[in-house]
Amino acid sequence: MTYKLIDGKAISDQIKSEIAEEVKQMIANGQKQPHLAVIIVGHDGGSETYVAHKVKSCEQVGFKSTRIAFEDDVTEEVLLAEIDKLNRDPDIDGFIVQLPLPKHISEEKVIEAIDYRKDVDGFHPVNVGRMVIGLPCFVSATPSGILELLKRYDIPTSGKNCVVIGRSNIVGKPVALLMMQKAYPGDATVTVCHSRTKNLKEICLQADIIIAALGSPEFLKADMVKEGAVIIDVGTTRVPSSETKSGFRLKGDVAFEEVAPKASYITPVPGGVGPMTIISLLRNTLLAAKKTIY
Ligand code: GUN
Repeated sequence: MTYKLIDGKAISDQIKSEIAEEVKQMIANGQKQPHLAVIIVGHDGGSETYVAHKVKSCEQVGFKSTRIAFEDDVTEEVLLAEIDKLNRDPDIDGFIVQLPLPKHISEEKVIEAIDYRKDVDGFHPVNVGRMVIGLPCFVSATPSGILELLKRYDIPTSGKNCVVIGRSNIVGKPVALLMMQKAYPGDATVTVCHSRTKNLKEICLQADIIIAALGSPEFLKADMVKEGAVIIDVGTTRVPSSETKSGFRLKGDVAFEEVAPKASYITPVPGGVGPMTIISLLRNTLLAAKKTIY
């Protein structure tokens, strides 16, 4: 089978131009510039890179952005006070707290402290609950990026067997819920597999669409994939590499070389789902600026 590569980078560039155009219109209409704030705690390499990308993407589409950094010994109290300040600041449309946080800080407490109307990460229980029952809400970045790719490539999902591997709160659970929702993309028959699943290979072989989000490099092999399946790879494990400037490279959850020839569509790593996650954050910030979620 000749497969089609799902080009997340190209789609994300296209959507960035669409958002930039909309921001121009808003400003021309006398509205204020959308404003995203990002809180980062400590110096985790991955987090610093992600936050730098987020700030740069804001600039590219004409948003204002504010980066608020704390050292990793910051107390939970100080962090919660900052969140309270951002909740009440009328110039801030949305904000996120980059995860993971140091162990002495409760991520749950921090997420619940964010005003759900400014929770552009879509992590607050109000947003998660609304997503489950199909109400207007901020949907988290990776699941909404995946759905946007399926949509932009016109990939049929209605009545298809969709297997999600992984059950994290950030990806597996929400993407499974979205794929089963009565909508397009959606309307699929969804099976969620995880580390305790029996017959995982047999289940995957039934899938028309596989969403691999377990965080285990090259886990999905060719003998687990049906001819013509759509493969979405959410894996982003950093492995050491002597070939890159940064000294590492990203590995997906799919053994790309052997799986691609069996697939109809497949996302690469990097350049597939990754670039789409920032788009969702920008989109959510735009929704927040327009006060669409209340
Ligand atoms: N860490 C990894 N992914 C994310 C994300 O989407 N949002 C936040 N806040 N932290 C993350």
